[in-house]
Amino acid sequence: MDKIAVLDFGGQYAHLIANRVRRSGFFAEILLPQNLVDPAEELKGYKGIILSGGPQSVFAKESPQVDASIFELGKPILGICYGLQLIVHDLGGKVKKAGGGEYGESKLKVVGKSKLFTSVPKSSVAWMSHGDEVKKLPEGFEKTASTDNCEFAAVEDTKRSIFGVQFHPEVRHTAAGEKILANFLKICGAKKSWDLDKFLKSEITKIKKQVGKKKVFLLVSGGVDSTVAFALLEKALSKKRVFGLMIDTGLLRENEAIEVQRNLKKAGFENLKIVNEAGHFLAALRNITDPEEKRRVIGRVFLKVQRKVLKRLRFNPREWLLGQGTIYPDTIESAGTKNSDKIKTHHNRVEEIERMIEKGLIVEPLAELYKDEVREVGRKLKLPKNLIERHPFPGPGLGVRILCGESEKPKATNKIETEIYRKWKIRGKVLPLRSVGVQGDSRTFAHPVALFTASRDLEKLGSIATWIVNKFSDINRVVLSLGSSKAPRVFSAAPAKLTPSRVELAREADAIVNDILTKQKLYSKVWQFPVVLAPVFEKGGEAIILRPINSEEAMTANFARLPKTYLSAVTKKLQKLDGIEHVFIDLTNKPPATIEWE
Ligand code: XMP
Repeated sequence: MDKIAVLDFGGQYAHLIANRVRRSGFFAEILLPQNLVDPAEELKGYKGIILSGGPQSVFAKESPQVDASIFELGKPILGICYGLQLIVHDLGGKVKKAGGGEYGESKLKVVGKSKLFTSVPKSSVAWMSHGDEVKKLPEGFEKTASTDNCEFAAVEDTKRSIFGVQFHPEVRHTAAGEKILANFLKICGAKKSWDLDKFLKSEITKIKKQVGKKKVFLLVSGGVDSTVAFALLEKALSKKRVFGLMIDTGLLRENEAIEVQRNLKKAGFENLKIVNEAGHFLAALRNITDPEEKRRVIGRVFLKVQRKVLKRLRFNPREWLLGQGTIYPDTIESAGTKNSDKIKTHHNRVEEIERMIEKGLIVEPLAELYKDEVREVGRKLKLPKNLIERHPFPGPGLGVRILCGESEKPKATNKIETEIYRKWKIRGKVLPLRSVGVQGDSRTFAHPVALFTASRDLEKLGSIATWIVNKFSDINRVVLSLGSSKAPRVFSAAPAKLTPSRVELAREADAIVNDILTKQKLYSKVWQFPVVLAPVFEKGGEAIILRPINSEEAMTANFARLPKTYLSAVTKKLQKLDGIEHVFIDLTNKPPATIEWE
């Protein structure tokens, strides 16, 4: 079988590259460069090699490398982001820190003729996420594309079939990305040999082998991933050997537990139990404000409850494995591969779970897939549409959408606010809290800027948001005030805990947002819609931040452009909630921000 090698330098999208290659019907394998003893020898059987992105600088000590002998193999090579920089660095060119970096959308302009850009428009949108950039090309290389911020956005040595791109062709937001990867695969001359049916067949064999004569105790949330995992496990092991447990954490949406039970029963899942453990979760979270600690506590309580239920039901733990609907982004963002940076610890990737994985006690049939593929598997398994097309809802639920910590504003606050006004004539306020982001494949924990303007031109405001985040390293998000268009003189923040009343407030806000979304027939127009409660205020209340996004696989996303009528209806209703002073909408893409706020 013809194979393509993807060398994983720890980029958030390394696996996505392999996924895209496979989705175009070619078999791709992910390899860790440090595990290759004789890279040239081990890679010579592949039709082509792709070098992924990564969080480090090529010139940093201990940055992941690969022996330059691979460039002499005569195989087509494509370097992406860090991969491009590695090629340039190793072959005698220069890579340097870029001015402010470039995150999110940029306009790619193709120059000259390149086989990589066959049938690619001269100008198109490409997605970037980098802090370093190429300054000088190695001998034999020429430039084939650039953007306003990045001169060498694509380069190649045509004679040696070595290509490099600074942007990410593997993410859906790069308009011509699929075409560019297809062109590379054509240059490699590989034959097609992979599809999702083959994946399903081999996964079923794998599940049977791993589970043997045991049974699976699966944590279900009613979301797409665990429902599809449930159906796939039942298909592999029969209904009798799969038991679904839904834990009501007290951090679910309004009526979620009842609706999930009803929907899953209707779809034919019989072995399903729901336990209410809200008190347990809220007690454990009572004094936690750090977002990562919050995630770890939630993950641990999940395990405790699961053990308690096993005991109560008199299930012998030696006869049962724990099943989870983990999908690939959950693992990569929890530093799932050796070179990647930890963005956040997903609830099904806490330490205890990692230890159980090592011992073979966890079954995760979807861990290789992205959300769009999970939905496709769901369709193949004939699950009803309403279960497959629900917006994703994270395991830790409202827990990651209720912000707790406060913080000082950055030292550069005045400078940032003055420069924004000078350039755009819009008042921007740096908010005294921080949220998680992902920039250049690394985690950031930085401040949002809130814009105050009467304009609702989200397209224009979105490009201002991109400018702000690229320009100021203390800022990783930009939100727009949907209520008042006049900036208050001061914004304060206070430490806030995950109290039952805040959870209730977040739940009510979430219900309002989704209710109007459904009524205005916009539910299917957004991919996911976190509603965030943040302890920032003028007079002592709180703010709600709307985070509607569109995405295909959650690795990149753009903020959704919702109509004015929707935004004003929602704002009006949210402002009536007791304790809500401000309503914002997040105008940041991923990267530089993540989907959830933490
Ligand atoms: P971020 O915020 O990293 O989110 O851009 C990417 C996707 O993952 C979901 N998410 C989670 N899902 N357990 C889950 O089951 C988690 O701990 C978790 N954290 C984030 C998030 O909702 C988005 O769809």
